[in-house]
Amino acid sequence: MTATRACSASEISTSEPRKVEIDGIAVSIVRDSAGQIHALGDRCTHGDISLSEGFVENDTLECWAHGSQFSLHTGRPLNLPAYEPVPVYPVTIDGDDVLVDVTNPIDVSGLMADGKELT
Ligand code: FES
Repeated sequence: MTATRACSASEISTSEPRKVEIDGIAVSIVRDSAGQIHALGDRCTHGDISLSEGFVENDTLECWAHGSQFSLHTGRPLNLPAYEPVPVYPVTIDGDDVLVDVTNPIDVSGLMADGKELT
């Protein structure tokens, strides 16, 4: 694991995503309604749009261009027009530092949109 400091946890609100660049990879840092911080690929899979310019709503990251909402837990779009997921990266909180490992995206194949495991 190669976690890199992305930002301060205290900078991340539940309403606005924050864009950071780690090793040349654009990442959206988002806080969900439970206070957990997530890191998702910043590029919408439908178009060349930065997801961090969108909205955090109902624990999704919504693309402002055409409204696809991506699960914060799986990166999967929950509605069209996007149909390909964005990567979700492991986040570690160290004090007020948000550390993100862009070299090792999370395997979300066994997760539902709310982050619970498929049974
Ligand atoms: S560019 Fe994001 S939904 Fe179309």
